[in-house]
Amino acid sequence: MSWEGDNLLEVTDLAVTFASQEGRVQAVDGISFGIREGETVGLVGESGCGKSISALAILGLVRMMSNSTVTGKVEFMGRDLLALPEHEVRRVRGRDISMIFQDPVTSLNPVLSIERQTTEGMENHLGLSHSDAVKRAIELLEMVGIPKAAERIHDYPHQFSGGMRQRVMIAIALSCNPKLLLADEPTTALDVTIQAQILRLMKQLSRDYGSAIVLITHDLGVVAGMTERILVMYAGRIVESASAGELFAHPHHPYTVGLLRSVPRLDEPRKGSLQSIDGLPPDLAHLPDGCAFAARCELRTEQCRHERPPLAATTPGRLSACFHSDHLVGAPVA
Ligand SMILES: Nc1ncnc2c1ncn2[C@@H]1O[C@H](COP(=O)(O)OP(=O)(O)OP(=O)(O)O)[C@@H](O)[C@H]1O
Ligand SMILES: [Mg+2]
Repeated sequence: MSWEGDNLLEVTDLAVTFASQEGRVQAVDGISFGIREGETVGLVGESGCGKSISALAILGLVRMMSNSTVTGKVEFMGRDLLALPEHEVRRVRGRDISMIFQDPVTSLNPVLSIERQTTEGMENHLGLSHSDAVKRAIELLEMVGIPKAAERIHDYPHQFSGGMRQRVMIAIALSCNPKLLLADEPTTALDVTIQAQILRLMKQLSRDYGSAIVLITHDLGVVAGMTERILVMYAGRIVESASAGELFAHPHHPYTVGLLRSVPRLDEPRKGSLQSIDGLPPDLAHLPDGCAFAARCELRTEQCRHERPPLAATTPGRLSACFHSDHLVGAPVA
């Protein structure tokens, strides 16, 4: 596929609504962002803010749910995946874009051996012979920390623990050297040593094959050392976008300030205890007219309750969706 655009992935005004008994749930509320080749981007935010649904919508998996409506554009190498028929998207999925799903239990096929599931993609998409694919699969399984991989490859998913299944899935996602890897909480279920090993492996993939990575997590600590740029999501919208270094040093959105206050930092131990953000995110079936964060925000004014702040430039290369970002620009982190 020839393509000469700036961004590998260009998402424009992507929105997802679900019809539910409580009404229309606005799970993703018009997000726009671009990802360059080889770039590593973190997508962070509290539980329920729309991170997984955004990734699943990019892959074309949300539109298959009967109660969903997906609008906007998801241009991958210049082609809008949302406008393509399913059989063409399927070709992109698995070969050019792969995903590590948040729920490893449902994403492996229980009736197929690990051998079959780890080699199928490499045979179909990379044209490897079965024996070469098995060799590579064993290598990958060892790299993600499966002991005795050459024996275990003959087993079935139920013979593995949850954490092991997660690692098998990671091996599958990395096996075809994807141009874009969507990794949804890839290491949450794993212990710290394996977590570090997996993150290193993903970085290696990005270096060796120029793969772009979107790392989705509610844990700012995980994205700190792994990503170049961070997108912060709140109630289905992107509220801040900045390079990782700048975001940690000087957040421009009050929600990001709150998130950072609740993360322990080794490089800059803070006095006093960690704080969490007071209050809860809004009900996505009844979003307020104005800023979705207003009810929890220390900087809110009357305007915030009635008007939705657009995601706009604060300083070069940085975006924040807040009428009061100027209070935070250049301010030291509290
Ligand atoms: N099929 C569905 N029908 C109705 N609402 C849904 C459906 N799937 C997801 N939602 C809602 O969409 C919102 C976003 O969900 P999503 O899974 O993207 O959150 P998340 O940011 O990934 O959270 P977490 O950090 O817990 O994984 C949630 O409020 C969820 O309840
Ligand atoms: Mg999720």
